[in-house]
Amino acid sequence: MDWSQRAAAIDGAFSDVTRREAFDIPADVCYLDGNSLGALPTAARLAVGQALDEEWGRGLIRSWNTADWLQLPRLTGDRIGALIGAEPGSVIVADSTSLNLYKLLHAAAQVNKHRHAIVTDIDNFPTDLYIVDRLAKQRGLEVRDVRRADFADVLDDDVAVLTLTHVDYRTSEMVDLQALTRAAHEVGALVVWDLAHSAGAVPLDLAAANVDFAVGCGYKFLNGGPGAPAFLYVAPRHIGVARQPIEGWHGHSQPFAFEREYRPAMDVSQFLIGTPPILGMRALWGALEVFDGIDMTRLHNKSLSMARLFHELAEEALVSRGFGIYSHRDSAARGSHVALTHAHGYALVQALIKRGVIGDFRRPNILRFGFAPLYNSAADVVRLVENLVDIIDHDAFDRMLRESAVV
Ligand SMILES: Cc1ncc(COP(=O)(O)O)c(C=O)c1O
Repeated sequence: MDWSQRAAAIDGAFSDVTRREAFDIPADVCYLDGNSLGALPTAARLAVGQALDEEWGRGLIRSWNTADWLQLPRLTGDRIGALIGAEPGSVIVADSTSLNLYKLLHAAAQVNKHRHAIVTDIDNFPTDLYIVDRLAKQRGLEVRDVRRADFADVLDDDVAVLTLTHVDYRTSEMVDLQALTRAAHEVGALVVWDLAHSAGAVPLDLAAANVDFAVGCGYKFLNGGPGAPAFLYVAPRHIGVARQPIEGWHGHSQPFAFEREYRPAMDVSQFLIGTPPILGMRALWGALEVFDGIDMTRLHNKSLSMARLFHELAEEALVSRGFGIYSHRDSAARGSHVALTHAHGYALVQALIKRGVIGDFRRPNILRFGFAPLYNSAADVVRLVENLVDIIDHDAFDRMLRESAVV
């Protein structure tokens, strides 16, 4: 079978989880960056249009009640909750992933306040590490940032919190969320998971895994748009017990009572701070409609098949052209993007973009491509590899290198 036939076999097998027509993507673009910024779902555009014209334009301030604006963080949270195996009422949409991580780490450290250490992955996403460091300074905690292989060595009965990212943003390796949660609980530690590269991409069951807390982005595989609000999960057993550190009026049990003293809400809305960004939340709310009726295991299986094809084609055609395969290849433990290395990675990504194939570059030499299976196809994988081959083999690349400042 040639490459196109192999791709067609995959695309044919997964038509039940393909929703390309539900997205507004320029016809000539092969968009492979949904792990960074998801494409625009038509339903998100409609939801924002309606929020502008009807809710804000005509409803004006009445829409806080008549259009459910006040409830939107919880309603949108429940929609996300259904995708990540969370109990109804345990997810809320608010703020950024970074800020939510701070809130939950603080809450978890407070629950375990007689313990003195926080464990994380030394290769975690930078914002996670910065927030861990700052929180540790504020609360006098020791940071044990170690490699994945060494978690077991540093988990002991002085650890308050284990915080990890589920899918690595460079390699796409997916760690065992259930086993690591169990290992943390065995020593009495709580877990805070970062699901930035997992939500909307891989099947999750936070309730079954007994997860304590989690955060994730709205703008990646959930397609909520640039700067979309993030989400956070609090297990029902911690709701009403764990308290976030920033006590704003939207986390009050009666925000509109305007009381002098703060009284925490006894539900997940205690994790809100201030007025929710309605337009951004409406975009996310609309975007989530695309997931209706989607089986997350099937969706993930489609991206695994695409990644398998990509790795095979990369072995066949890219390794001999100076590329390294950087992404994790084990289908049992990978998320939904792939990565290559190349000495001229930045210039190559720029050359691809000129041809309408959009991925991204991560220092020092990583070319990263997101496979968002709702709108990407195995045919996109073939187009990507064919373009890389063509760029390397023809003088277009030499010319581009000469023109490029970064080589
Ligand atoms: C794993 C991970 N966590 C957190 C973030 C950052 O989240 P935010 O900028 O929304 O706070 C990112 C952004 O790419 C990420 O990849």
